[in-house]
Amino acid sequence: GIGALLSSAAWAQGLEGKVVGFSQIGSESGWRAAETSVTKQQAEARGVDLKFADAQQKQENQIKAIRGFIAQGVDAILVAPVVATGWDEVLTEAKEANIPVILLDRGIEAPEDLYLTSVASDQVKEGRVAGEWLVGTVGDKPCNVVELQGTVGSSPAINRKQGFEEAIAGHANITIVRSQTGDFTRSKGKEVMEGFLKAEDGGKNICAVYAHNDDMAVGAIQAIKDAGLKPGSDILVVSIDAVPDIFSAMVAGEANATVELTPNMAGPAFDALDAYLNAGTVPPKFIITESKLYTPADNPQSEYDTRKGLGY
Ligand code: AHR
Repeated sequence: GIGALLSSAAWAQGLEGKVVGFSQIGSESGWRAAETSVTKQQAEARGVDLKFADAQQKQENQIKAIRGFIAQGVDAILVAPVVATGWDEVLTEAKEANIPVILLDRGIEAPEDLYLTSVASDQVKEGRVAGEWLVGTVGDKPCNVVELQGTVGSSPAINRKQGFEEAIAGHANITIVRSQTGDFTRSKGKEVMEGFLKAEDGGKNICAVYAHNDDMAVGAIQAIKDAGLKPGSDILVVSIDAVPDIFSAMVAGEANATVELTPNMAGPAFDALDAYLNAGTVPPKFIITESKLYTPADNPQSEYDTRKGLGY
């Protein structure tokens, strides 16, 4: 959770002077920006020379960056993979060069021996937690849900959809009536929500919006307000990440629930790398972060303040 953020750097040693390449997806969301800054802080605290590459949402840029890191002979590579498939070739090149690769926050469909470990949340569980919250909140009332999906082909979009559907299965009163990608961005979230509202009787036919991340939820909240409805009451808003902006929306009564995703994937990743490089300790293949639900009952103002204080 948030309390552990950055604390692991205090005891970890042994990465001083190591060169680590980091292929980041881009800056599509507030969460992504927080992960970038936490990763840089974690590297600095450990004396790691971090080579940062922003792929601007393109897998081909990530593949190029990884090839560049291999050519430079880095000690390790961190990669947040934008989509789940298409990694076998470049990761095989890293393996042949004996460079350990650690996946951050998203999973891939590739043989597990192509990476040292994956530090990520259980994304199916995140979707399930969001769906269970909705089930518990609407009870037996009929509820038409519109879904804003993340980036097409990304593991969080695939898994968060699956987990939510699992949670509402068996509750015939809850139905997903529309589902489209908003690419994890605020602007697309707003645009797609505008379309949903128009298509569903100006929004009168919508009970809840489920967004695969907070940024799309924030965009949807704006669209709902522009349509003359009240987000948080006329239309329930549930999403994932727990970034500061969703807590300010909760303070305003405009968002109802979020599932926390820690931006500190690098801390556990560097700990695992340290133990591997210095003691030969092979980490578990999957290091799973927590998925905690927050609602307006959880003092959203203080959650906002805490995260702002951590530099989100
Ligand atoms: O992979 C994690 C997801 O990517 C976050 O939930 C989202 O905000 C980001 O874009």
